[in-house]
Amino acid sequence: MDKRVILAIETSCDETSVAILKDGKELLSNVVSTQIETHKQFGGVMPEIASRLHVENITMCIDKAMKEAGLTYQDLTLIAVTKGPGLIGALHVGLQAAKALSIAYNIPLLGVNHMAGHIYASRYVSDFKFPLLALVVSGGHTQLYLMKGEYEFECLGETRDDAVGEVYDKVSRVLGLGYPGGPIIDRLASEGENKYELPYPKIGDKYAFSFSGLKTAVLNLVNSLEMKGEEYKKEDIACSFQKKVVDILVDKVMLVLKEYSVKQVLLAGGVSANKELRRVIVERVTAEYKDIEVIIPPMWCCTDNAAMLAMAAYYSNEEFSDLMMGVNPSLCL
Ligand code: KG4
Ligand code: ZN
Repeated sequence: MDKRVILAIETSCDETSVAILKDGKELLSNVVSTQIETHKQFGGVMPEIASRLHVENITMCIDKAMKEAGLTYQDLTLIAVTKGPGLIGALHVGLQAAKALSIAYNIPLLGVNHMAGHIYASRYVSDFKFPLLALVVSGGHTQLYLMKGEYEFECLGETRDDAVGEVYDKVSRVLGLGYPGGPIIDRLASEGENKYELPYPKIGDKYAFSFSGLKTAVLNLVNSLEMKGEEYKKEDIACSFQKKVVDILVDKVMLVLKEYSVKQVLLAGGVSANKELRRVIVERVTAEYKDIEVIIPPMWCCTDNAAMLAMAAYYSNEEFSDLMMGVNPSLCL
């Protein structure tokens, strides 16, 4: 498979993005058109509106990415596209654009898993050493993957209910803080105190996560403070919530490390932009395991973008996709 010049398209949620990667190293362009301002007014992503905005923006993003890279379509050797997981209509827009380019310019097509993209985002800052443990935390997923080799993913555990990012967004909405909640709560948390005792999930399955109990506890806490007319600071709620989330996530990582010997621990997904999580995971892992390297993705590559997808495409061991390829909203790694 000729992967010298990859054009990647990502439209799984609320970012339309196109990137061009040369020789698996040189990122020639990474155009990201975010729809956040539109979805903000609804307090979350509206799938139908997301699809429509992807349709409006995709051609412009492709054009801009090509211009920034200074290439012609004949220079491209592979078209990579997110085939899932994500919103079905949104994914379709990217896939149809990718197929059109593939047919028009006779360039092979490769479907890529969005979560692999999140993991491979870190390849922009570090080589991978296997075995590697990846904690993937995004708006739709909370998973632990053991990678024993390049592009080999073994899911050790995942959330049984809500994803971390989803809970951040919900807590933010209840506090009247807006969408997306993650960055807002993250900022407020650093100005608050950890003064509310929130529950720690008790689940039998060692590596599984559960966040619905914590979410309900925060919602109940806010409701009861308001009903009693008690004064409270949103900063303190944000801080207490975030501390608990980070404890839960990093505790699981530490649990895996007791059982599996790994060379690197990698953080991935939109929630990996979280300042406290970035700090605590490095602190706790390196305090206990001097030989384990902790890889944190660069901030520009934490939330959805096509650069991460292009990198995953470069390392993917999957065969070319044929033109009958469809999307899969619940695609697993
Ligand atoms: O990976 P992503 O861009 O989209 C999905 O694939 O889901 O992740 C988006 C999620 C949102 O829920 C957003 O609130 C969360 O990532 N997020 C954060 C932060 N920045 C984004 N969560 C916590 N702290 C942040 N700084
Ligand atoms: Zn994502």
